[in-house]
Amino acid sequence: MKHLIRAALAATTATIAPVYAQNAPLLPLPAQMTPATGAITIANGAGIVVPAGDTGAATAARLLTDRVKIDRGLTLATAAQGPIRFVRDAAVAGDEAYRLTVTPRVITIAASGDRGLIWGAMTLAQLLSPDTQFGRPVRVAATTIDDAPRFRWRGLMVDVTRSFQPIETLYPIVDTMAAQKLNTLHMHLSDDQGWRVEIKRYPKLTEIGAFREPAVAGGQPGPKVGGFYTQDELRKLVAYAAERGITIVPEIDMPGHAQAAVAAYPEEVGVLGDRPPVGHDWGVNPWLFSPAPRSMTFIKNVLDELLDIFPGQFFHVGGDEAVKDQWQRSPEVQAQMKALGLKTENQMQGWMISELGKYLASKNRRLIGWDEILEGDVPTSATVMSWRGEAGAVEAANKGHDVVMSPAPNLYLDNIQSTAGDEPPGRIGLQTLEAVYGYEPVRPGVTAEAAAHVLGAQGNAWSEYLATAKQKEHATFPRLSAIAEFTWSPRDKRDWKGFVTRLQPQMLRYQRQGIAAADAAFAVAYTLDGAKGDILRGKAPKLTLATQTGAGTIRYTVDGSQPTARSRTYAAPITLRPGQVVTATAFAKDGHALADPRRFDATRPALLRATGSSDMVACPKGALGLRVPLVSGQSGDAPAYNVNIFDTCTQAPKMPLDVAQAFTVTVARLPRNYGLAHDEGKLRLHYAVTQYGELVMRVGGCDGMVAATFPLPNPDTAPNRFDFTGSFPKQPGDADICLQFTSPLSAPFYTVDTLQLESSK
Ligand code: ACM
Repeated sequence: MKHLIRAALAATTATIAPVYAQNAPLLPLPAQMTPATGAITIANGAGIVVPAGDTGAATAARLLTDRVKIDRGLTLATAAQGPIRFVRDAAVAGDEAYRLTVTPRVITIAASGDRGLIWGAMTLAQLLSPDTQFGRPVRVAATTIDDAPRFRWRGLMVDVTRSFQPIETLYPIVDTMAAQKLNTLHMHLSDDQGWRVEIKRYPKLTEIGAFREPAVAGGQPGPKVGGFYTQDELRKLVAYAAERGITIVPEIDMPGHAQAAVAAYPEEVGVLGDRPPVGHDWGVNPWLFSPAPRSMTFIKNVLDELLDIFPGQFFHVGGDEAVKDQWQRSPEVQAQMKALGLKTENQMQGWMISELGKYLASKNRRLIGWDEILEGDVPTSATVMSWRGEAGAVEAANKGHDVVMSPAPNLYLDNIQSTAGDEPPGRIGLQTLEAVYGYEPVRPGVTAEAAAHVLGAQGNAWSEYLATAKQKEHATFPRLSAIAEFTWSPRDKRDWKGFVTRLQPQMLRYQRQGIAAADAAFAVAYTLDGAKGDILRGKAPKLTLATQTGAGTIRYTVDGSQPTARSRTYAAPITLRPGQVVTATAFAKDGHALADPRRFDATRPALLRATGSSDMVACPKGALGLRVPLVSGQSGDAPAYNVNIFDTCTQAPKMPLDVAQAFTVTVARLPRNYGLAHDEGKLRLHYAVTQYGELVMRVGGCDGMVAATFPLPNPDTAPNRFDFTGSFPKQPGDADICLQFTSPLSAPFYTVDTLQLESSK
């Protein structure tokens, strides 16, 4: 698959030069932009004039000042006179709409609503930061921008439960969302792996529920990991976001994904009374909230505290992936169903969600939930967040529910965005920046009348595999820029090439904000039209260099040095000699590198090596493909491996067994921490001879002959990476090597870090 994708990318390698004259450095693209003649220069000290007593305008002016300081290094300040003016204009209708007028003498931001003033300020900040000339005055072309959003819900979900995210790391995310006119931050605050919000009435929710033992691959678990937000911390974040036009939507996931809550209060909210530990298994776990009166009272008490912290209209009640085994086994739940006249557990969930909806309505709030809430006949006042594809959303919108689109895999930002070896962990459903950009929230099948029920869309940054704040930022940005554009800009203005051009100054803004946005869309990827061994065989296979976006000019070196704006230009596929190292990146017209350089290593050891992070494929292919880190939990730059968690098997394609036969295989042992619920039966167990199972290596794919078998060591005492050495029989050319582990399903999970061939001594 990787090769097909790379070939497809190579086919779109047209060079796009930035054309800022026609293409203002704006992201999202405004609804309407009318050029005029002339330009105005804004320099350090330029004054911003704000109507007296207008606190909304004063806030917008302050946000503009802060933004321009970060994005351009210029100091602006409110003053009695100056070239920038905020004005109120009732004719600019709609809370989020604004008009920005640039003439050679003055820049005016007009809006009727506070948020319109903020979005106008953010547009101006982008006009003032078009390039790399940090600290320099900026010329802004005369223009009139009439702008308003296409959708009212333009969002991001952060999963702060699977990997706790310190509160201070959320502030730059709010800043950069606001800068691109995103207005909704959904916080997934509770799940099996952690309860993240202080509830004063129920302190054990965080004392117990906010911390878990990390999953380990053998040996003793380390200290507990986790954390939570105090109510004060959240109130400050909510206020900070609100000041920037952003509403925070809290989610307490119910009735499933409840293990942390049940761990804290098994008698109050649990179904069967037993106390699980806070979970460390990803996926679907069996613990549910009980729908019994004691539990509903508890939940409503929790909601009361949360509604006080989060003043926004929507409250998210979860509703996803609740396997009903516990409810089926509970006489109490079965009796409750009977008393309510409900026949199925799905109806019981529907009753519970409807009760919560009524409670929220009584507090003047609206319920939103994952699309499973549709299975339980909830009233159309419930808003549906669509994640299991889109059919449910189409049906719901046509029935009269409001819907928010966040389907997997399209808008699941934990999916990888490139097939590069340096891609961090995630799910293996490749979602490139271009794929995300192409997403259309109003799906075919939604009637013209129902289209108004599509409130918008959001990206979901699930964090099972995104352990650190930097990994989360990498997964989220710049794909969130694509979401910003398709949720704000008119549908007929969608323009991928223009977006790629306008994203280049946005990438500089991410850097200045300290956000670790992924450069994957601009990074050079390599495709060899042959096997790596062909280079050693002197067959001169050609190496193609391409980037996902085709932006800029690719330049490269072959001696391992860093490419510069004066290095050789890549024009056509290149032929490598053994020993060369190609290092390449794309440069923008002004000479700045659009991505970190990437390497193709044609030294002999590299050509004889397959790595688990980039060369190897899971076998059989495609079954719940994950890219997982060596160490679960709060790990930084641990290597990542593509695995199939149902079958501990990996394949190293096209190893040159004619050139070298001796090998060292480095095995990595990973935690097996997956809650599979009803999918357990899909796990494949292989016949083992020794206590901890073996690594069985086959030549010629997984049906080939066994070339070597190594007993695996005791996981409680062996390190989590270790080597085996051996020798393959000489082959006439390349051979696929299948590496199958036969360890018990109760044991940790294994994969291959590297398979290194060496010439026999
Ligand atoms: C979900 O991904 N379980 C909403």
